[in-house]
Amino acid sequence: MKEAIEQIFKELNELKAQTAKEAEEARIRFLGKKGEITALMEQFRSVAPELKREYGQKLNELKKAATARIEELKSLAEVSAVADAPKEDLTMPGDAFPLGSRHPVSIVRQQIVDIFRKFGYDVAEGPEIEDDYHVFEALNFPPNHPAREMQDTFFVSSGHLNPLLLRTHTSSVQVRTMETQPLPIRVVCPGRVFRNEAISARAHCIFHQVEGLYIDKDVTFADLKQAILLFAREMFGPETEIRMRPSYFPFTEPSAEVDVSCNICHGKGCNICKGTGWLEIMGCGMVDPNVLKASGIDPAQYSGFAFGMGVERIAMLKWQVNDLRHYFENDMRFLGEFATATEV
Ligand code: PHE
Repeated sequence: MKEAIEQIFKELNELKAQTAKEAEEARIRFLGKKGEITALMEQFRSVAPELKREYGQKLNELKKAATARIEELKSLAEVSAVADAPKEDLTMPGDAFPLGSRHPVSIVRQQIVDIFRKFGYDVAEGPEIEDDYHVFEALNFPPNHPAREMQDTFFVSSGHLNPLLLRTHTSSVQVRTMETQPLPIRVVCPGRVFRNEAISARAHCIFHQVEGLYIDKDVTFADLKQAILLFAREMFGPETEIRMRPSYFPFTEPSAEVDVSCNICHGKGCNICKGTGWLEIMGCGMVDPNVLKASGIDPAQYSGFAFGMGVERIAMLKWQVNDLRHYFENDMRFLGEFATATEV
């Protein structure tokens, strides 16, 4: 028996296995039910009692050594199997990144701003949380004007003289520009505005505006009209005509609403322009002398015009989108349609 044990020790030392299968075969050969070591264990039962201690120890060592060696061969075979596995094909074309695109409201806001930039306007931005003074007071809103009331304005704080609120238009940025910038002023103010309106196809409580302001000596209504006409033709095409209807805003006098000729039916009348041939795009007017005075500008020396438009409204007209809510729902099928619409 002693020799048999020695013999197996020797064989274990020389044992080799290329694959996990070969290692498993070795395990069966030595440690399996009919394995060589298992057979020695059986024989051990009939070993003379005085030799049991010595042989028992040896057999245990053998079994341990065999188990360890076979485990070792198994894991070596597994490592080389991974190393020899066929490599990934590095010449395969990669997965294409899904390309995002700019939001249609961002695209149109940028187009509007770019057009006025070409005319020499600067761009100014201001806070979305404003105070009553910059949104209403400095813009000649009478103290009890309905726009200040809860149904239109989201108030952040109330109860004191100049409450904080979410701006309802970006005219507040024009006030801040008049307060801080030297004259003459030519500026457009893009930004988000907030009004407490029920959400529908035509209204939302959050939307975007671009407002503009031009103040210099001898600025007239004719300058306003020309600026708007040039803008409309850049935005909606060179054939576009404009018309102005008298209107009212506290901060401009005289004031007007601007319509552009319908770019779908070219004046014939369709369901987009509701058969009128005209589409309303913005409000405008000559800056009220009270507004100039409030910001420290002498109305005897300076005059100016202002205008303001809703970005979503321009985008709806440009792309014939009939429901404002599409712009806020982030439906990829809708947004994806504007992926290539970046040109002015
Ligand atoms: N501030 C006005 C609005 O939000 C738009 C406007 C701006 C009208 C400037 C006239 C002049 O509706």
